[in-house]
Amino acid sequence: MKKKLRSQNWFGKKGKDGFIYRAWMKNQGYPADEFEGKPVIGICNTWSELTPCNGHFRELAEHVKRGVWEAGGFPLEFPVMSLGETLMKPTTMLYRNLASMDAEESIRGNPLDGIVLMGGCDKTTPSILMGACSVDLPTIFLSGGPMLNGKHRGRNVGTTDLWKFSEANRRGELSQEEFLEIEAGMCRSDGHCAVMGTASTMACMVEALGVTLPHNAAIPAADARRKVLAHLSGRRIVSMVKEDLKLSQILTREAFENAIMVNAAIGGSTNFVVHLLAIAGRVGVPLDLADFDKFSKKIPLLANLLPSGKFMMEDFYYAGGLPALIKELKSFLNVNAITANGHTIGENTQSAECYDEAVITPIKTPVKNDSGIAVLKGNLCPNGAIIKPSAATPKLMQHKGKAFVFEDVEDYKAKVDLPDLDLDENSILILRNAGPKGYPGMPEVGNIGLPKMMLDKGITDMVRISDGRMSGTAFGTVVLHVSPEAAVGGTFGLVKTGDWIELDVPNRTLNLLVSEAELAQRKKTWSAPDLGYHRGYVKMYIDHVEQAHEGVDLDFLKGKSGSEVKRDSH
Ligand code: FES
Repeated sequence: MKKKLRSQNWFGKKGKDGFIYRAWMKNQGYPADEFEGKPVIGICNTWSELTPCNGHFRELAEHVKRGVWEAGGFPLEFPVMSLGETLMKPTTMLYRNLASMDAEESIRGNPLDGIVLMGGCDKTTPSILMGACSVDLPTIFLSGGPMLNGKHRGRNVGTTDLWKFSEANRRGELSQEEFLEIEAGMCRSDGHCAVMGTASTMACMVEALGVTLPHNAAIPAADARRKVLAHLSGRRIVSMVKEDLKLSQILTREAFENAIMVNAAIGGSTNFVVHLLAIAGRVGVPLDLADFDKFSKKIPLLANLLPSGKFMMEDFYYAGGLPALIKELKSFLNVNAITANGHTIGENTQSAECYDEAVITPIKTPVKNDSGIAVLKGNLCPNGAIIKPSAATPKLMQHKGKAFVFEDVEDYKAKVDLPDLDLDENSILILRNAGPKGYPGMPEVGNIGLPKMMLDKGITDMVRISDGRMSGTAFGTVVLHVSPEAAVGGTFGLVKTGDWIELDVPNRTLNLLVSEAELAQRKKTWSAPDLGYHRGYVKMYIDHVEQAHEGVDLDFLKGKSGSEVKRDSH
């Protein structure tokens, strides 16, 4: 027997209830037969003028609707909280879980049978996917697509260059006039950051997980084929509802392993770790930090994209996009993992071709052998910390140096340009109180710029360690996500300037070379900081947020509640 559509629990009702559910909808001009058993497709839209990377989403949603109508569905678009990376203070990560709650409750509370999730800028992707996982309806993801390559005086520029330009500007090597000229040429089209930063990483993640149609990750936002993909996603979700192909049937352990391996091969952002852990936590798939090291260890870097390589997302699409890369990687992957179009990831990429081996390298001649995420353990990070070897300086991967501690971001800003800091190029810079609770919100500050006195000496990289995150567009020998963070009493909070620290990435260790007895002594005088947040969402966040190695979700949001609504007030 055909399964009754969930939306019919609203629109299929008789009497007063059915009247209320339908009558108010009719003020938007929908004829009566729209309510008579068509799959209702919710288009969960993170459009906002305050999220410029998603600024084109209203138009894109219209193309989704075309596909839904065409396939016999009834599309209804709704907004959810949008998180604009560049504008929102203090950090969008503070609100990822809040946006996920918005998406979850908006989906569950409404008469929807299937969902098209529309995300682009960094946190808009994981947040709405997390929320959708906790409901578990048939769901397809549509990313907004990257910007076209930025252009400046005849050459490509992308977000990764910003760090280099700003340091050149600080050193006086780049004029303010040219700095502003670059600003005007970098973001010249619709879309999200054009390098393999966090947004592109998230777009690749959802494609590798199988919750999108093929080519979701790389088609530029400005390319008409992005609209075609939106149209096809709209068509497909109607079939997914008819097949009752739920998110949890796609998001299996195999899919998560694939996502980790693909992330390694694309040189994806370190932010991938906290987001994938959180998504797995919602859908109920066991996944831990060690899995990231285990599954990315053997994977070479195949995508020659900034910040680990030299090209950008537009080039990646023209070279064959993610399907071409996945095909090259297939001997490692779980090729039988099912995807949103009902085919396996192996079937979807069978006929994919690489058109530019400089951008997507053959597996035998990769960009680098070291890729993915290395997970470190040691007394400085008993629950783990991570580093992205492909973005680091090889000679610093095994390094012993004296700590120089910045107590927090403000302390760093106050000191970084001083001419007489007690450090040299072998020092290890510590930035703490940037973790989930300690900031709060775990901002992207781990890749702190080098002290001016080091830049003046021509030093371009130093080991930096933080309990915060770093932008996916950044690079350097930066250890991140130290867990437990300083603000909850981890060893990281006990480090003093002058302590010796040893980093050994090949052997996956990070240790503070201070005796247990001395650390116990320091712990006696340590106390948790009072951050001054005593009300509202931020208070709830601080009380419930989990540590980096667990995905930084709120403890009570783990798992799912399904799509059933138990009570009805009409
Ligand atoms: Fe939105 Fe980079 S600022 S993706």
